[in-house]
Amino acid sequence: MELSLAQREQFAADGFLVIPNFKSAADIAELRARAEQIVEAFDERERMPIFTTADERTKNDEYFLTSGSTIRCFFEADAFNAQGRLAQSKALSINKIGHAMHDLDPVFARFAHDARLEDVAAGVGLQRPLVYQSMYIFKQPGIGGEVRWHQDATYFVTEPISVTTFWFALEAADTTNGCLWVEPGGQRGPLRERFTVDAANGAVLERIDPTPWPENANAVPVEVDPGTLVVFGGLLPHYSAPNRSPRSRHAFTLHAVDASAPYAPTNWLQRAAEFPARGFAVSA
Ligand code: FE2
Repeated sequence: MELSLAQREQFAADGFLVIPNFKSAADIAELRARAEQIVEAFDERERMPIFTTADERTKNDEYFLTSGSTIRCFFEADAFNAQGRLAQSKALSINKIGHAMHDLDPVFARFAHDARLEDVAAGVGLQRPLVYQSMYIFKQPGIGGEVRWHQDATYFVTEPISVTTFWFALEAADTTNGCLWVEPGGQRGPLRERFTVDAANGAVLERIDPTPWPENANAVPVEVDPGTLVVFGGLLPHYSAPNRSPRSRHAFTLHAVDASAPYAPTNWLQRAAEFPARGFAVSA
C-alpha cells in the first residue's frame, strides 16, 4: 500500500494526509466491541476522583504517568456532578483508553500492527517506525472535552523530531461532533511546547517557543467517514472542539517515532527494555 507521489507531495505541503476507507467496517466493529469490554471491566470505584485535593491530583498524575506500558481508562473531566459522582453511565463517561493496547491486547494489536501502515509510514518519511502509544478516544456525546491547539511532538521528543500520528476515524467526524481541525502548512513552524518528566521537577509542560498558536480562521476541519486514516506529523498544530452533539466521535490513534532518531529520556512515556516499542509490521 505504497503512497503515491501525489500523496507524498500533499503530506509534505500540508503536513497531513487523509486516506479514506483504510479500515473496514468489520475492523472497526471489532475494535469498538473490544473497547466496550475494556470499559465494562474497568472498576470505576478505584478511580472515583475527587478533583479538589492536591493529594488526589498527585494520584491522578501518577495514574497517567505510569500508564504507558499498560491499559487504563480515563474519565472525561465533565463526567462528574457536583458531588463527585458520575452524572451518566460509565460507558458514556470515559474520555479515553491508553496507552499500550497495541502491544498488550490481541484485538488492538491486530488493528495496529498492520503491514500496510509500514508502507504509509515509509511514505511520510518514517523509515523505522516504533509505535509507542495507542489511544482509543471516545469524544462522548454532550461532554466530549475540547483538546486545545497543540503539536504531538510536545509529548514525543526525538532528535530530530519524527513522531507521526496515525488517526483512525471509527465513526463519522464532522464539525458538529468534534472533528480534528488542523493548520495546513503549520508543520513548518517551530515546536512551541515540551512536556517533560524527570525526578527533579516531575511533569512539566514548558513553553519553548513564543510563536503563537494559529488563528482559528486559519484552521480547516478534517471531516471524515468511518474507516478513514488521517496521518500527520508531530509539528502540525491541531485541535478538536468539544462535542456538544448527541453523537459520539470515536477515534483510535497511534503515535510512532523513527528508531534512528534518539528518543528523549525526559518523554513521559518510556518503555522498559523488556517491553520495547515495535514497528507496525509485526504479527500480534
Ligand atoms: Fe494531538
